[in-house]
Amino acid sequence: MIYVDNNATTPMAVEVAQAMSQAYESAFFNPSSQHQAGQKAHRRLDDARETILNLLGAETTRFASDRLVFTSGGTEANNLALFGLGKETSGQVIISAIEHPSVSEAADQLAARGGKVRVLPVDGNGVVQFAELDRWLVEPTRIVSVMLGNNETGVLQPIREIAAICRDRDVPLHVDAVQGIGKIPVNFRELGASAMTLTPHKFHGPRGIGALVLNDRVTLNPSMFGGSQQLAMRPGTESVELAIGFERALQLAIETLPEAGPNMQNLRDRLEALLTDLIGADQIVIIGRDAPRLPHTSNIAFPGIDRQALVMALDMAGVACSTGSACASGSSEPSPTLIAMGLPEGVISGSIRVSLSRFTTEPEVDEVASRISQCVKRLQKS
Ligand SMILES: Cc1ncc(COP(=O)(O)O)c(C=O)c1O
Repeated sequence: MIYVDNNATTPMAVEVAQAMSQAYESAFFNPSSQHQAGQKAHRRLDDARETILNLLGAETTRFASDRLVFTSGGTEANNLALFGLGKETSGQVIISAIEHPSVSEAADQLAARGGKVRVLPVDGNGVVQFAELDRWLVEPTRIVSVMLGNNETGVLQPIREIAAICRDRDVPLHVDAVQGIGKIPVNFRELGASAMTLTPHKFHGPRGIGALVLNDRVTLNPSMFGGSQQLAMRPGTESVELAIGFERALQLAIETLPEAGPNMQNLRDRLEALLTDLIGADQIVIIGRDAPRLPHTSNIAFPGIDRQALVMALDMAGVACSTGSACASGSSEPSPTLIAMGLPEGVISGSIRVSLSRFTTEPEVDEVASRISQCVKRLQKS
């Protein structure tokens, strides 16, 4: 099987598995225990937190101390941000039209509880349009949440510009960077966000852990109660082993990025060029092609083909890809992201997502292109 569904999750790097396996043997203690072993585990957890913050370009000096809250994954970190970020407990929440469901459905919940939610639109390439933002921020606003790179199209968002507007109005900006980390350089301070979500299972680390990075000024109200761990912002016994896996995965992702980034982009471009040749330029739409994109994600539509049928045919042909976000797969609901982009119905219903990783090879990409083209041609005839 050729795995090109890396935006759903990635295989764990061998070095990460080794680091975690050692930790399971030697650092299994509860970091809140008072005995020496527990205290040692606590120090190791703090080290992992500090290393991750440094690798992300957060500030951990005496003068400014950004913080990191471990969560169970990206979904929890996004929920924690949407429900808990910001000094104001009232005030509107602003998100974009293409956020992951862990942001958009959290916002729906806030709206159902009587909160005001506003949604920034996107253009035909899936880039967030923020012309209205400054005017909207005149009203009391608790947070703005806009993702770094879209999980379905890979399209990158104008975070720095949005951050500058939020900073001028003193409103915290939360950025879901889940798909960006390990694919493009990300520096938390340079991004200008107040909070950022990430999870290592998208960059060859473990599942079951994620993080919300917070700058030194933003306030986070907890969503869970019952312990003083993580400054009571997210109570519960921490997993030192998962934190160590997270740390190792991030180190590797950043070390390999200078080579892996351009490599993934070349392979992505090669796949799109091969498919265009094999299927014909008039039978294929590369979604978001004209916008800056993450290097590893390709959302390709074959108008007239049913995307579910194509993904199933590809599965039978030994190619694992998806119809969109993992959470939406299995359902035949059209993608809200593609709808927000105003794409024609035939494009939306005929689009699949192919997502690469730093372990994807050229022969794999060539084989994927050939198998997609065979399946598309077969479905076009039926
Ligand atoms: C952009 C984005 N945000 C959040 C998530 C949720 O992360 P997790 O699956 O770790 O809960 C995902 C997962 O696909 C994602 O792609």
